[in-house]
Amino acid sequence: MARILIRNGEIFTGTEQFRGHILIKDERIELVSKDSLPETQADEVIDAKGFPVFPGGIDPHVHMHLPTGAGYSSDDFYSGSQAALAGGTTTLIDFVTPHKGQLLQDALSERKKEAENCLTDYSFHVSPVEWRNSMPDEIKAIKEQEGITSFKVYMAYKDTIGLEDEDLRKVMKAVAEAGGMVTVHSEMGDEVDSLRKQFIAEGKTAPEYHPLSRPAELEAEAVKKAIAFADEARCSLYIVHVSAAASLKYIAEAQEKGQKVFAETCPQYLLLDDEKYRGSFDETAPFVLSPPLRKKADNKALWEALLGNTIRTLGTDHCPFNRVQKEQGKDNFTKIANGIGGVEHRLTLLYTYGVLQGKLTMNEFVDLVSTNPAKIFGLYPKKGLIAPGSDADLVLWNPDKENLISVKNHVSNSDLEAYEGFRTQGAPEYVFLRGQKIVDKGKLTNHNLKGKFLKRH
Ligand code: URP
Ligand code: ZN
Ligand code: ZN
Repeated sequence: MARILIRNGEIFTGTEQFRGHILIKDERIELVSKDSLPETQADEVIDAKGFPVFPGGIDPHVHMHLPTGAGYSSDDFYSGSQAALAGGTTTLIDFVTPHKGQLLQDALSERKKEAENCLTDYSFHVSPVEWRNSMPDEIKAIKEQEGITSFKVYMAYKDTIGLEDEDLRKVMKAVAEAGGMVTVHSEMGDEVDSLRKQFIAEGKTAPEYHPLSRPAELEAEAVKKAIAFADEARCSLYIVHVSAAASLKYIAEAQEKGQKVFAETCPQYLLLDDEKYRGSFDETAPFVLSPPLRKKADNKALWEALLGNTIRTLGTDHCPFNRVQKEQGKDNFTKIANGIGGVEHRLTLLYTYGVLQGKLTMNEFVDLVSTNPAKIFGLYPKKGLIAPGSDADLVLWNPDKENLISVKNHVSNSDLEAYEGFRTQGAPEYVFLRGQKIVDKGKLTNHNLKGKFLKRH
């Protein structure tokens, strides 16, 4: 039995802040105390004086080893989870995307194998990519037997994994009956597809046409529709990667009415904008992701929505690629590998550009990166909380550590870095996953961790 004492930390949860001491026993937190704890009880003592201490980050939206037309996303579960841990994230929620005709359970079993080398703890959102009569039973079994509470649907990507409206309604009804939640990629798929075809037919093949083929209004319209369908089905709804100011109105209205609608945004929609689509192919293709980067006014509205609680979580949609994969769309923007990385920088970006700029309190920061994802996705209080009995997933945050984000120093397995040149302040000094120290004095150390598949409730 190993006991680790973390003393003199400035402890933050989503609601509390106090100077205190944490005793870890094996995988769990045994004691949290404002009074000193005897060092003799511990095998190791870490002095956290001057360090905020908060629960390990939970990124509810990542795509490791995602198969695409341009090859797999460049981080597999091993390299992606290393990047996550280096940045203070100890739990990842990725996706299970079955082939057409494949049972949800079979697709989940395959995906679990792919995730066996994940260093963080992990779970999945499972995607019904089509409707069949057995779907309600499959969904129920996944929820009850596998502890997966969230089911992801795509309103875009109609030629592959996207659902038609009628099927979307049926999935929502089945998920509601199973007591689960639907997570949704909201973009009007048919309209996006016809704009893409139109641009290509007109010879408008450069990356700058990617955002023009996926305008903000088509996101907002899909958000409105998804909310209406979820209301009709009495289904809890979580809208992933909200990027457009125009979407926020529908989300806020539904929340005010008491509908169970949650929304996520990502660092790229707070900090990057569509100026990234001006320039050469090499400069612009790295920023092809869906939804695309929007206007500065959208960035501002999203920051306000974080403060107003319309948006409850910060995910990353971590889906990095290498330059050669982006180059597959040299003559056709629809063939550019779609996505960017971010899991490594999520906490430090929100801390630097949110907390240090006075936009967010530390409690709000902890809520967005850890506590709210834990609550929404059925991991709380095991995750997302510092309290006796919770998993000892802890970040001891060095508030002074500065970094210049660069492809040269990032951990992610990609030769592209969307936040290249961003200055950050604040980084993990120590990270614990279930009591095991993985970041030690700012350095990733323990590469032999084994993440656990988490059953949610
Ligand atoms: O561009 C992105 N976001 N790629 C990953 C798939 C998705 O839509 O989340
Ligand atoms: Zn998406
Ligand atoms: Zn995604």
